[in-house]
Amino acid sequence: MVNWTQIRDDFPTLKRKIDDKSIVYLDSACNSLKPQQVIDALCYYYTNLGACGGRSIHSLARETTELRDDAREKIAKHINARNTNEIIWVRNTTEAINLIANALHFEKGQEIITTNLEHHSGVLPFHKVMGRKNLKLKIVEADKSGLFDIEDFEKTINKNTRLISIVHTSNTTGTTAPLEEIIKIAHDYGALVLSDDAQYFPHKKTDVQKSDADFCAVSMHKALGPSGIGFLYGKEHLLKEMDSFLVGGDTIEDVKYIDGKVVPTYLEPPHKFEAGLQNYAGEIGSGAAVDYLDSIGMENIEAREHILTEKLQKALESISSINTIGPKDPSQRSGLVAFQMKNIETTGDIANYLDSDVEGNKIMIRAGAHCTNPFHYHIGITPSTGTARASIYVYNNEDDIKLLKDALEDLDKIVNS
Ligand code: ALA
Repeated sequence: MVNWTQIRDDFPTLKRKIDDKSIVYLDSACNSLKPQQVIDALCYYYTNLGACGGRSIHSLARETTELRDDAREKIAKHINARNTNEIIWVRNTTEAINLIANALHFEKGQEIITTNLEHHSGVLPFHKVMGRKNLKLKIVEADKSGLFDIEDFEKTINKNTRLISIVHTSNTTGTTAPLEEIIKIAHDYGALVLSDDAQYFPHKKTDVQKSDADFCAVSMHKALGPSGIGFLYGKEHLLKEMDSFLVGGDTIEDVKYIDGKVVPTYLEPPHKFEAGLQNYAGEIGSGAAVDYLDSIGMENIEAREHILTEKLQKALESISSINTIGPKDPSQRSGLVAFQMKNIETTGDIANYLDSDVEGNKIMIRAGAHCTNPFHYHIGITPSTGTARASIYVYNNEDDIKLLKDALEDLDKIVNS
């Protein structure tokens, strides 16, 4: 039995007061708060080590290397990767997707399928290389509530499709795409699948062998981990076939200058992709974040969030001037609800109101287009109007939702009566 109340004690930010007001944090889809265990792991590196991992051979470097290796092992185990060579450290999901767009081999005229629900990071890296690599980008349209259209996908995929880049859970509608079904269809056509797991990984069990995903991109900052660190999972044989992306120190076995030409020999994955001095503290902190998630259990997190998401959606929909974005059935979404309020032109005004002073609290949500402008246009909302979005995580409870509801009722009275 998880003690959810006790979990809150692990998050020092929740104990802070700003201008004497308590923090109600409902913006975890943007960035999660960090438990003390992750902060301690970061501090351990900076306090006790501060050295290079994998380069020097002295005692501090050896310990750094051991802790880095442990962290990679923890990530691999958590997502059920076959081995640690399948985990590449990157700065974030965006960098992981850029890596695939640049390093995966494509033949002229091959196609990439993506959707109108993607985070900009899921589509722009491919848009950027498509001219240079002579590729075609095809868009499958999610419906207005964000549900993936498998029929449209089946009509779009063909033998020329090289890659599907798909957001697994949307940061705008909270809907989760039927990844296993998509992967099965893609593999029947010989296509690969890259799952943007930024919003899925923190909330549900990621099992790469079960899903058979070829690549997954994850940011640790949404999963209780440090910012500026994430990982790309890739099947080892695919990573071996790929070009390098960022190159330089630590990516090579040897470099020679032969007859005036530079001749590098690159290392095997993952090192071939990890150029330059790495974010050692971030990696070690990521290991601590995964330990923390595992100590609660991803199944417990998913079950708890299922209940809270339903309460959140019901609370918002009980206010008649609020229009929620995404599916009406709360079981079709996880962890977040985006919304608009009648007579409020810019949703930033909702966020500012909530952050001002609501009965001694600062309620923190996000407002804007959440880096999903195409989907906002799809549902008839201009990005400058945007949507307000409340999102939950392991430290939220029913009181947070009640405070949000009460505050929005007050705002509704001010604006709409
Ligand atoms: N991924 C960021 C968010 O959803 C943009 O807030």
